[in-house]
Amino acid sequence: MTALLALRRLVPATLIAAVCAALLALGACARHDEGAIEVASFFERHWADPLPAQGLPPAGFSALEASLAPQACGQCHVRQWQQWQTSLHARAVGPGLVWQLHLMDQAAANRCLRCHAPLAEQKALLAQAMQWPARPTTAPPPHVSDDLARKGLVCAACHVRGHRRIGPVPQGGRAGATTTGAHGGFVATTAFSDSRLCAHCHQFPADGPRTAGKLNEDTYEQWKASPFAAQRSCQDCHMPGRQHLWRGIHDPEMTRSAIDVALQVERAAGRQVRAAAVVRNIGAGHHFPTYMVPKVELQFARVARDGSRTPLGTQVIGWSVDTDLRHEIADTRIPAGASRRFELAFDAPSADGWELELRVLVRPDEHYERTFGQSLAQGERLPPAALAPLRAALEHSRGTAYELMRLRQAPRIAN
Ligand code: HEC
Ligand code: HEC
Ligand code: HEC
Ligand code: HEC
Ligand code: HEC
Repeated sequence: MTALLALRRLVPATLIAAVCAALLALGACARHDEGAIEVASFFERHWADPLPAQGLPPAGFSALEASLAPQACGQCHVRQWQQWQTSLHARAVGPGLVWQLHLMDQAAANRCLRCHAPLAEQKALLAQAMQWPARPTTAPPPHVSDDLARKGLVCAACHVRGHRRIGPVPQGGRAGATTTGAHGGFVATTAFSDSRLCAHCHQFPADGPRTAGKLNEDTYEQWKASPFAAQRSCQDCHMPGRQHLWRGIHDPEMTRSAIDVALQVERAAGRQVRAAAVVRNIGAGHHFPTYMVPKVELQFARVARDGSRTPLGTQVIGWSVDTDLRHEIADTRIPAGASRRFELAFDAPSADGWELELRVLVRPDEHYERTFGQSLAQGERLPPAALAPLRAALEHSRGTAYELMRLRQAPRIAN
């Protein structure tokens, strides 16, 4: 269910209409021939849960035009295809999901698949691969490639409904539908440039799972409450120039753009040193990081003149929760536009010429490192088929860590 549907249940439609009527008068709600109400009802249809099957392709379609396979779209949309292949959306059916599917029945699994492989055709293929009792018994139709489920969040999951292509308003073009050209034209809508398109999967509804009272996935609401909401959409930051890369915390360059770090080191009375790393979220349009999986470690050390290093401790930016998702350990995430001080105090060494060093280490999959490791330790309780993907997922999650930056600062004498 979308965040919008959850909102709909709380706010009477008449109230939404009234707000929009006021905004319409200011010209803020409607662009081209669409109003905000149409965009809102667009999302209800576009992300119907479950998505209905596409049905038979129109008679005039060639096999290439009919195919839902991303490699078929890629024959004509080369740039999007090349970029998408490098994105995490293309890996949404990876070993981390697959080992867990082995623990579930079909209904429970389909609740995961609504975000990881949402097409009805993908769910049918996975049901066959998993040998679930309610799997379809016939072979998939020609427009469904054998590998469609394993390809994760495919082009068609975002862009194709009932074999109609739906996309953003072309640069310099207009909203509306064309009916000629490849795949019988397409529908252009402002909804594709709206953050709510992403909210379907990057926001749990208000009645979704929570830890310590906070929604486990709350990215859209964090963004909406942030200063960025008025200036930049999810797409502006994650799809600049309409690129299909969706870089996030797994990408060092993207993550570097999120924060500004200042290191302060002061000699106080006697040998006492007071130090702080001040981290400001200047470029993530939501909390840094947005949810419980990634951790950013601030590793402090003293470096002597001869280069020898003495560790002074590690502090963590992130939302740490236990592996049962029941108890919060700490929440030091930094909301968009806000900053947080990470302080430490220590005694200066007798020899001068030392500096404080801060190494920032990003562990994008830290929560999975812990949960997958714990599950593997109890591997004898798991179905045997789950073990190989679980091992692969654990190894993968451990391999995603990287050093983001390293700063050094000599002490200043406080006055
Ligand atoms: C035979 C070539 C061909 C194939 C195959 C194809 N497309 Fe297209 N598509 C086009 C052309 C030509 C247009 C017209 C606009 C343009 O030039 O990009 C278009 C337009 C679109 C648009 C509208 C772009 C906008 O500006 O809003 C979307 C979205 C789209 N295609 C998605 C897909 C997807 C998804 C697939 C695969 C399921 C696919 N297409 C397969 C040729 C193709
Ligand atoms: C149908 C569900 C769905 C939609 C719609 C969707 N996403 Fe995702 N997104 C996912 C899933 C699932 C993953 C995780 C894939 C994986 O790592 O296996 C993901 C991953 C990402 C990541 C990578 C995060 C990281 O950890 O580095 C970013 C960034 C992202 N999405 C942004 C967006 C944006 C922006 C939009 C809207 C234009 C969007 N997504 C729409 C399901 C979705
Ligand atoms: C509301 C949409 C949604 C649902 C439902 C959902 N996920 Fe995800 N999942 C995501 C998004 C979005 C990400 C990526 C988040 C990020 O990187 O910030 C993700 C990431 C993951 C990852 C880490 C990436 C990977 O592929 O290894 C795993 C594992 C995962 N989900 C498993 C599951 C399982 C199992 C279920 C069902 C119990 C499930 N998810 C249900 C949206 C969803
Ligand atoms: C997670 C959803 C999602 C997936 C998956 C996805 N797209 Fe898109 N696509 C979008 C969004 C959102 C936009 C518009 C971005 C904007 O308005 O800034 C877009 C824009 C486009 C456009 C118009 C480009 C332009 O410059 O006007 C085409 C064509 C397209 N996508 C094709 C594809 C193809 C082909 C694939 C698979 C290889 C794909 N998309 C996968 C969400 C998606
Ligand atoms: C002002 C730019 C900006 C906007 C707006 C923005 N993001 Fe991000 N996002 C980032 C940056 C930078 C990162 C990498 C640092 C981080 O993880 O916070 C990121 C990271 C992510 C991640 C990786 C997971 C994590 O724990 O941080 C996901 C998923 C994501 N964004 C989704 C979204 C969605 C969905 C929206 C819209 C509701 C959105 N973002 C809006 C800049 C932005």
